[in-house]
Amino acid sequence: MTFTVTVQPSGHTFTVERDEAVLPAAIRQGVGLPYGCKDGACGSCKSRLLDGRVIHGAHQLKALSPAEEEAGFVLTCCATPQTDLVIESREVVGAGQFPIKKMPCRVSSIDKPAPDVAVLKLQLPANDRLQYHAGQYVEFILRDGSRRSYSMANAPHTQEAQPGIELHIRHMPGGKFTDHVFGAMKEKEILRMEGPFGSFFLRDGTDKPMVLLASGTGFAPIKALIEHLEYKGITRPAVLYWGCRSRADLYLHDWAQAAADRLPWLTYVPVLSEPKAEDAWSGRTGFVHQAVMADLPDLSGHEVYACGAPVMVESAQRDFVERCGLPAEAFYADSFTSEADKH
Ligand SMILES: Cc1cc2nc3c(=O)[nH]c(=O)nc-3n(C[C@H](O)[C@H](O)[C@H](O)COP(=O)(O)OP(=O)(O)OC[C@H]3O[C@@H](n4cnc5c(N)ncnc54)[C@H](O)[C@@H]3O)c2cc1C
Ligand code: FES
Repeated sequence: MTFTVTVQPSGHTFTVERDEAVLPAAIRQGVGLPYGCKDGACGSCKSRLLDGRVIHGAHQLKALSPAEEEAGFVLTCCATPQTDLVIESREVVGAGQFPIKKMPCRVSSIDKPAPDVAVLKLQLPANDRLQYHAGQYVEFILRDGSRRSYSMANAPHTQEAQPGIELHIRHMPGGKFTDHVFGAMKEKEILRMEGPFGSFFLRDGTDKPMVLLASGTGFAPIKALIEHLEYKGITRPAVLYWGCRSRADLYLHDWAQAAADRLPWLTYVPVLSEPKAEDAWSGRTGFVHQAVMADLPDLSGHEVYACGAPVMVESAQRDFVERCGLPAEAFYADSFTSEADKH
């Protein structure tokens, strides 16, 4: 038995299998619903249910509060239809453009530009091609079937010269996958991955200036976006705000500075929340999203692309919309949720 979901205002329809949630069915059929974690933790897939009934699987209250549920909102990633549905959701143009593939990959290098950051370069099969939008992510499929998501740090056009991806991985002590990356992982190791996933990528059709906001390894997809903008010759003004604790955590500071020196449309503002004495830091300090608000108190004409720690993404979304006039639909984000955010 299948149910039909109609998305408003686009009018697109797709089918959902019995016991399947709405989002995986949409992804499978190339319908561009917004999403991030796919697991009830980030809230990116929140949509309004206009008609029909769903059962909600486990999810975090900060992703969907009881009041929001009461008001008719659902998380498509964990809502299983009980009837045909009509949902209201903005659709992401280009989301279903590239095939989602499972493929093996080989670790070609592991570098540690900061004590808790690994830059992993992965070689992809020569006879296969991974097409993706700058900003999207892949999932590693671990031996026990669990999955971990990492955003591509290199722009898609780099695949033409050499099929391979670059990932920036922050060590979360006690974490199933990153303990391995910072422990036993060796070059030439084979991993299984699937992708591309995600609705965090550049929206065309506007010249609005952009705020590119990253915390920690949230810099990875932002780097891919900058590479992509440069390659495409897009010159929309953009300010990159990169927040980290101390100077050592700005693991590609020189790359970001060189990009800003090279590209007249890009400005780079690094922000440290806990600079060390030996950093002799004379730059900006504090929370990165507050630095944006201090510089740009009126965000009504901007688009924001934000990526990294869930607390940063949530604070930025709330404060930019409530206090700086950013239209809610002009905030695009991937929140790097982990198991810690699901319990
Ligand atoms: C769309 C998306 C893109 C992402 N992109 C990136 C990226 O580019 N770079 C990056 O560094 N990360 C990224 N992440 C985060 C990444 O997917 C992982 O969640 C992260 O690396 C942790 O994985 P892990 O297996 O090491 O830790 P996990 O096993 O997920 O554990 C994370 C932390 O929680 C603790 N923990 C585990 N289980 C529990 C529990 N039951 N209760 C409480 N605490 C628990 C662990 O000790 C650990 O400290 C992304 C996440 C998403 C959703
Ligand atoms: S994608 Fe549904 S809550 Fe994150």
